[in-house]
Amino acid sequence: MCNILEITLLDPKTIIKGDDTSVKKDLCAMFAFAFTFGLGSSLSDRSKDYFDTTVRENFKAAAYPNGFTVFDYYFNLKEHAFKPWSERVKAFEFSKEQPFFDIMVETEMTFKHSFMLELLLSGSKPIFFTGETGVGKSVVIQNTLNRLAEKDLVPIYINFSAQTESKRTQDSINDKLEKISRKVLGAVAGKRNAIFVDDINMPTVETYGAQPPIELLRLLVDRNGLYERTEWDWKQVVSTTLIAAAAPPLGGRSPLCTRFSTNFNMFCLPDATEGVLGNIFNSILGGFLKAFNFAEPVQNLKEAVVLSTIETYVKIQKELRATPAKFHYSFNLRDVSKVIQGILMTKNVSINNVEVLGKLWVNEVSRVFMDRLIDDDDRDWFISETMDMLSKNFKSQLENDDLFGSNKVKFGDVLKIDAGKVYEEIKDQGKLVKALENQLEDYNDTSTNKMNLVFFEDAVLHILRIMRSLRQPRGNIMLIGVGGSGKQSLIRLSAFMYEFQFRQIEIKKNYNQKDFNEFIKELMFASGVMGKEIAFTMTDSHILKESFLEDINNILNTGEVPNLMLTEDKDYIN
Ligand SMILES: Nc1ncnc2c1ncn2[C@@H]1O[C@H](COP(=O)(O)OP(=O)(O)O)[C@@H](O)[C@H]1O
Ligand SMILES: [Mg+2]
Repeated sequence: MCNILEITLLDPKTIIKGDDTSVKKDLCAMFAFAFTFGLGSSLSDRSKDYFDTTVRENFKAAAYPNGFTVFDYYFNLKEHAFKPWSERVKAFEFSKEQPFFDIMVETEMTFKHSFMLELLLSGSKPIFFTGETGVGKSVVIQNTLNRLAEKDLVPIYINFSAQTESKRTQDSINDKLEKISRKVLGAVAGKRNAIFVDDINMPTVETYGAQPPIELLRLLVDRNGLYERTEWDWKQVVSTTLIAAAAPPLGGRSPLCTRFSTNFNMFCLPDATEGVLGNIFNSILGGFLKAFNFAEPVQNLKEAVVLSTIETYVKIQKELRATPAKFHYSFNLRDVSKVIQGILMTKNVSINNVEVLGKLWVNEVSRVFMDRLIDDDDRDWFISETMDMLSKNFKSQLENDDLFGSNKVKFGDVLKIDAGKVYEEIKDQGKLVKALENQLEDYNDTSTNKMNLVFFEDAVLHILRIMRSLRQPRGNIMLIGVGGSGKQSLIRLSAFMYEFQFRQIEIKKNYNQKDFNEFIKELMFASGVMGKEIAFTMTDSHILKESFLEDINNILNTGEVPNLMLTEDKDYIN
């Protein structure tokens, strides 16, 4: 609370004008605002109502308007009144050039939290965002930091996982800090750093309760420095603020030591209501369909697509719970987002009527949700729910058999790979198999590693799934099945069709972390610097050390492996 009050009052832009009574009233309101967001914002949704009543009773002079809760207002000093945050939210504009992963639809929640983040960063105060998985913690922080990076902020991204060690954490931080003098580390002249540690409560708790990476960060927030590890000299860290995000403890996430968390200004992001989710994804999908001139009737179904996707997500989360045998039944907002991303892969020529849009939607929710299910009971449940929504929301006449029967719904670009990779419905199974056979022939003509594949329906479906992931930015896929079921061969063929390099580590005697690092570095140079497209495949036999998985996890989350690049590598990249 004091942080917010101090930063607001000391801000040169804060000019309190008016007569004596008015100034006093303004000060009182500013205090109430700082009180609300400094103390109340860490509360969960349920307690916020109680807090609202308390603030209104105790700060009568602040004159909060009625209508919303105190959390929905900011104090507008010019107008001497509380105004709803929602008035400041800008309408979403879809841009054809913007990559899918950079899209953030501004909502009251994102605006408010982005504002508080910027405010506290301006006073170098550490900030912690918590809230359930998928509420938008990472999106809001990344988006705000990227925006501020255009001014004077240098964002430093770090991801934590169960395997994270204190030494590697320190290395990744050191890697990004400038050496200011022998004893001082900090930011480049004229800039300030913001270190963002996402999923901060992931590190495994040791037998006796310690979390070494957290202790390291505690020194950083609490004492503003670190001990360097060769001579154990103290290094002061300046112009650097720590930002953390984590969902509440449960499922691999541990409670954080309070001596650590007490250093932060804590914000608990509310669960997005179905209305807010609908608004976010309707804006994105509607913007896309309009910008690319999809047929009017197709555009009109955007709400059906979004509503059905959200309903699927809400239902599957409730009905198909994770159990030890189905531990991977964990669904979050990212899955909803992936369905929409799938629909954004299409062009108006291939989705020209409402029936094919319905099929596309079925295909995308099936890829994102159904492919994860492991038994017939669960799949049957999913199919029946999907068919219900199709008839209820899309008013579709399609029958179960048209989509999930003998001829399953298929989308892909196999028939139009050379004609701009058009993602479209593939109706003619014969044509599809013929195309794949031709591709296989080409593959065998040019490769030393000959394959003999039979394209029965499941194999074809697997290829389409793999290709769908390969063509997506940040695409990734995990294939699970007994050995010898052809997982790698299908990836090889898919990669060949897209002219992607197929790469795997080559295991030799004493293969170690260093070999693995060299391999990853080479992949990154090839893809990031030379712009080559690569299908990097890893099988269980390649996981020689747990730490390999940690690196893969980092690549999937942040696109980086801490400490991989040496100074000369960075010079090469530049
Ligand atoms: N306001 C928003 N605009 C666009 N996408 C959003 C928004 N809020 C959440 N999302 C999407 O929801 C998903 C989950 O958000 P994320 O920030 O990763 O959640 P968290 O970090 O809280 O677990 C992401 O795929 C993100 O793209
Ligand atoms: Mg996150």
